[in-house]
Amino acid sequence: MLGVILAGGIGTRLMPLTKVTNKHLLPVYDQPMIYYPIQTLTKAGINEIVIVTGKEHSGNFMTLLSSGREFGARFAYVLQEGAGGIAEAIGLVEPYARGSSIVVMLGDNIVFDDLTDEVRGFKSGCRIFLKEVADPERFGVPEIDDSGKIRRIIEKPANPPTKFAVTGIYFYDSTVFDRIKRLKPSERGELEVTDLNNSYLADGKLSHGFIKGPWLDAGTIENLYQATLLVRKLRVDGREP
Ligand code: DAU
Repeated sequence: MLGVILAGGIGTRLMPLTKVTNKHLLPVYDQPMIYYPIQTLTKAGINEIVIVTGKEHSGNFMTLLSSGREFGARFAYVLQEGAGGIAEAIGLVEPYARGSSIVVMLGDNIVFDDLTDEVRGFKSGCRIFLKEVADPERFGVPEIDDSGKIRRIIEKPANPPTKFAVTGIYFYDSTVFDRIKRLKPSERGELEVTDLNNSYLADGKLSHGFIKGPWLDAGTIENLYQATLLVRKLRVDGREP
């Protein structure tokens, strides 16, 4: 499967830290943020990775990450002009996927689970990963019925129906690109990943798993700080992530 890391967007929630650099280049303890999703993908056996960035700081990503050799991987870079949404960013990768399935990771997600078996077991449709959180209203949230099936996913609901967040790790089959072409921009003018996932759900092609270890979205000041604390704790405890 092809790996995709989304590192575009404007990083408004981290201003002024993101005034002269990109969110994903900021430090999380002893590494730039983007190292963490790269390591999650390479640990899962994915070593062809497309990195989607905005154009403002794209040169810095290449300076930092280069060809990917240091990570035992091969990187390609794609520019997203503007911030038209996560689904728009995924759509830009179509020429690189050449009909294969893709694993998408949001560049501000920090997770240490070993996804090797999940990657090997993925056949078709869309697979998402849930994590119980204290503040589900910040995320995509699934409504789950009594049999444990997802009924729908709601983006940042004021009254979350469950305590689960949809994490920023998504597996898609090759129908993803046609589905993205059919999406309409949301009220905030973006092509939403939640709408994309709901399109698979409508066709009965959405499955889900759970993240077992810690998971963080480091996209706010508080969570960036929490991410640093978490990584430091794991390192100090000798549980090297
Ligand atoms: O972290 C998980 C959450 O990520 C999900 O639960 C939500 O359903 C999903 O919409 C997303 O919510 P966020 O509000 O955290 O998304 P954010 O705008 O912070 O974007 C997440 C990453 O995607 C960010 O690191 C940069 C990248 N991105 C985002 C946009 C809007 C792009 O590459 N291009 C874009 O246009």
